[in-house]
Amino acid sequence: MKRLKHLFQRNLEWATGIKEANPDFFTDLSRQQAPDYLWIGCSDSRVPANQIVDLPPGELFVHRNIANVVVHTDLNCLSVIHFAVNVLKIKHIIVCGHYGCSGVKAAIDGKPHGFIDNWLCHIKDVSRLNYSKLQGLSQEDKCDKLCELNVLEQVKNVCQTSIVQNAWRSGIELSVHGWIYNIENGILRDMDTCITSLEQFSERCGEI
Ligand code: CO
Repeated sequence: MKRLKHLFQRNLEWATGIKEANPDFFTDLSRQQAPDYLWIGCSDSRVPANQIVDLPPGELFVHRNIANVVVHTDLNCLSVIHFAVNVLKIKHIIVCGHYGCSGVKAAIDGKPHGFIDNWLCHIKDVSRLNYSKLQGLSQEDKCDKLCELNVLEQVKNVCQTSIVQNAWRSGIELSVHGWIYNIENGILRDMDTCITSLEQFSERCGEI
């Protein structure tokens, strides 16, 4: 148990099952990855990127952190976006939040949470920026609304990166999407905030 043997057993069964269905699957995949999508989502164990959109290995490039935040100076996230856009040539960046996000809840519950409070300041910023939209709501509704507003804000942050803006300036086809996932029923919702050009971003920046 100490060496987590059960996980290796599950891995063996998984890989064997895939090879039985498609003997060349791993050989083909080992030669290259050519995903069309970059997924920026929450680390929450209930929101597994590939499974939610039912895509096999090789189809989704993934970055996850607590509360799916895109911080202007986060070298980790920026490197992922850079690699996805400039090397993998992905066509779509999806920011996917989810209702009931523990990170969002913790950001507005008024209690101290230790080190993570520094990261949650980014969510508190979203709350502050949208004060009028959140005012008067119950704590539960406020959390759900903030989960949505956080997606919109992080879409904006993706669009503000030099990587995405340079791609648009170079005429590269690139769309940035905002989605939200419901952990209670497994359903994804498009928040209709897709941005595909610098002009569109400038026009809509005030709205989102
Ligand atoms: Co979350």
